[in-house]
Amino acid sequence: MKTRILLVEADLQVRNMVLQSITLEYHATAVRSAEEAVDLLEKEAFDIVVLDINLPGMSGLDLLQHCPRLRPGIITIVITAHATIETAVEAMKRGATEFLMKPLSTEDLMSALSVAAERVSRQALSSAGSGMAPVDIVAESHVMRTLLTQATSIAPFNTTVLITGETGTGKELVARAIHQHSPRHQRPLVALNCAAIPEQLLEDELFGHVKGAFTGAHTARIGRFEQADGGTLFLDEIGDMSLPLQAKLLRVLQEREFEKLGSSRTTKVDVRIVAATSADLEKRVSDGSFRADLYYRLNVVHLRLPALRLRREDIQPLAKQLLVRFCTSAGLPPKTIYPDAWEALTSYYWPGNVRQLQNAMERAAALSGARLDIQLYDLPEEVRGGAEFGISTPLADVNLPVPAIPTAIPDEGLSYEAIVATVERELLLKSLKKTGGNKVRAAKLLHMKRTTFAEKLKRLQPDVEDDLLEEYQAN
Ligand SMILES: Nc1ncnc2c1ncn2[C@@H]1O[C@H](COP(=O)(O)OP(=O)(O)O)[C@@H](O)[C@H]1O
Ligand SMILES: [Mg+2]
Repeated sequence: MKTRILLVEADLQVRNMVLQSITLEYHATAVRSAEEAVDLLEKEAFDIVVLDINLPGMSGLDLLQHCPRLRPGIITIVITAHATIETAVEAMKRGATEFLMKPLSTEDLMSALSVAAERVSRQALSSAGSGMAPVDIVAESHVMRTLLTQATSIAPFNTTVLITGETGTGKELVARAIHQHSPRHQRPLVALNCAAIPEQLLEDELFGHVKGAFTGAHTARIGRFEQADGGTLFLDEIGDMSLPLQAKLLRVLQEREFEKLGSSRTTKVDVRIVAATSADLEKRVSDGSFRADLYYRLNVVHLRLPALRLRREDIQPLAKQLLVRFCTSAGLPPKTIYPDAWEALTSYYWPGNVRQLQNAMERAAALSGARLDIQLYDLPEEVRGGAEFGISTPLADVNLPVPAIPTAIPDEGLSYEAIVATVERELLLKSLKKTGGNKVRAAKLLHMKRTTFAEKLKRLQPDVEDDLLEEYQAN
């Protein structure tokens, strides 16, 4: 069966041009407005919508938003005469899979359509397959629930996703969830940690090479891009990629094609990119170590994973889940956590986030042996230290932000900066909470200049400031 395309274009000339070039290969229908398109989408099944942004009445951007509701899984290709970064980003955010510029070239159009049509046929093949079990992500806090809702809603589209957050916050887990909730889930999810591979090898790893490309290249090698064709490529620690490779990556993102090492032939791929980093990319852009254009290209949808200490409601359910998981896999009986151990777990500042909590639970489960409860002394020293200081001193009663400070410095040392930042953040937020969000009064309470206060707040939490405040007030 031919792929069904709906063209929404007000300009008669463009309409005719498109229809002429596609009717042989596709089953095409054209309308002049978004309203007509909505009517038709309600009645008839289409696989792909090609739409102009500039339409009389309802705009193309608004139509984009209706498409997935009217026809889940539909592919949308946007045409525009005025391609600003803002329109492009907005269109991508609203689910556009592809973006074409006017004057429209038949070649670009046909190539975009053939990539899309191939995906349609793959979707048709895989829709009969079984649904995969969803990844088990604990999300009790408001921030995490919001973030997961966002992740699920953008999952079905081809938009590039950037996930940032401290190490161990669950970036890779979220990337996997996005892949699993996408129409690409039966195709591979290929992961590559850019920081783990030496720069000279990374290019080969990404793009592969042909036989004889360099001394020692006795066989050809398929790169990760090609392995991920039709699926998702997860580029972890993208902030550590070298500038020359950043330029190459940008080109693949823009043109969906590349040359293998030692080859002049271009290879075309259909890959969705999910990138992650624990680095501050905005800062790297401003100091010149990360390309601004690549940053904008990756930043279409940005999911910021908050540190575990900023979403303490997640600690208990996470600890429970991790404990059950570990006991089951180690053949241990199910265990419960003793109250003083709970206190330690929930008041510690977790610089290593969920990964550190996971290690702590694993260790506690093993140390407690045949005992059915986890006691305070089963927890690692640094976790225990925080609780002892924060909870057993009278200071805790006046609600001063001390639980983040450990009493003893553990053998492996600790991050001075992380602790100071946590204390600073808690002070700022508590002061804000006390004044109902009034920054001037909050600054006064801390004997600080208003500008210093604002600056610190901004530096600690550039964007999620409001979310955090909300969280704090909800607690
Ligand atoms: N919300 C969560 N629910 C359940 N497990 C989680 C969650 N967040 C992280 N984890 C677990 O913690 C560990 C670290 O997560 P990971 O995604 O590798 O972090 P990152 O990539 O940010 O360093 C993984 O084993 C992961 O399964
Ligand atoms: Mg990781």
